[in-house]
Amino acid sequence: MTETAPRPQARPAAPAARVPDAPPQGAPLPGAPLPRERGPLSAAVLRVLRGGAAPAVDVAGADPLGEDLQLALYLAYEPHYRALEGVADEREWDPALLALRRPMEQAFLEALRAAVPDGDDVTAALEPLLVEPVDGHGVSHRLMREGTWELMREYLVHRSPYQLKESDPQAWLIPRLEGQAKASLVAVAYDEFGGGRGERVHARLFADLMEGAGLDSSYGRYLDLVPAATLATVNVMSLFGLHRSLRGAAAGNFAVIEITSPPGARRMARALERLGAQERCVRFFTEHIEADAVHEQVMRRDVLGDLLDREPGLAADVAFGIRATVWLDERWEEQVLAAWDDGRPSLRGPLAPADRDATDRDATGDGATGD
Ligand SMILES: [Fe+2]
Ligand SMILES: [Fe+2]
Repeated sequence: MTETAPRPQARPAAPAARVPDAPPQGAPLPGAPLPRERGPLSAAVLRVLRGGAAPAVDVAGADPLGEDLQLALYLAYEPHYRALEGVADEREWDPALLALRRPMEQAFLEALRAAVPDGDDVTAALEPLLVEPVDGHGVSHRLMREGTWELMREYLVHRSPYQLKESDPQAWLIPRLEGQAKASLVAVAYDEFGGGRGERVHARLFADLMEGAGLDSSYGRYLDLVPAATLATVNVMSLFGLHRSLRGAAAGNFAVIEITSPPGARRMARALERLGAQERCVRFFTEHIEADAVHEQVMRRDVLGDLLDREPGLAADVAFGIRATVWLDERWEEQVLAAWDDGRPSLRGPLAPADRDATDRDATGDGATGD
């Protein structure tokens, strides 16, 4: 008796694709918490984000590097990156938001152009970055030599608006490049985004670092404490990245990040080791020491080199992107060090005691302070 081949069974019907339910009207939209306003511009952006009408605002009278404009610009960019609490995803392309953003971008860009020298010599613009000063006195030098957990936590909070979305602003550059420059930029980005492994995404490694230091790694958690000088270093990436006309400056900005990363990462790893930090804290920096030594070369030779071979007319923009990035970084370092020299917090206020206690307990693992 021959066995009867089993009859093919009717395939179970594929489950209907599930369309996520729209949140019921009036229910809070999830996302990063919105910060408090810092003046009329940030109040206007917050109002539009929440769905209100844009009030008339005077950008011309605002300090382009001040707290109000820099927070307003940061918030105007955020819907491109992450969900914000109470903000509809559609707000990303709301003409009212874009109309508020444009004059602020122009004011910021003008301030940057006024702050740094003109010129199209990219090699000269890069030169100061390639030499490590023997008597360095930046923030990472200070932390390595005499950093306490308190200062380390402040540093991590300053870095969090960028590092928790590390390399996202630079990803805008991908469609704006071609050939070798595009291929090489994506090779660098592949590492930044974890080389195919979610747990190795650099933003995730930074979140692990924050948690190991007893901080809350939730996106946007500390935004109220982050001053304008820090926000400007992030806003410049979004400004350059989101405008194709500024692609040269975006490439210059990315090159600075990669070139300055390895020595700084080495110092930060030593600073954390000196404090007895957990391995997951140090890993973020050790990962960058090796990876960015390669990235630096790739960015200079293959990304900037190939971009300028194709579009030599972008040299002045590339040099501007490099100089503006360095200028903003140095300005940030000066403000942080001045605050620490005076014994003040470099943030807009002190970290909550809960964060401090958690750091001392979790980071050292034995309840002793790590200072
Ligand atoms: Fe990275
Ligand atoms: Fe890198």
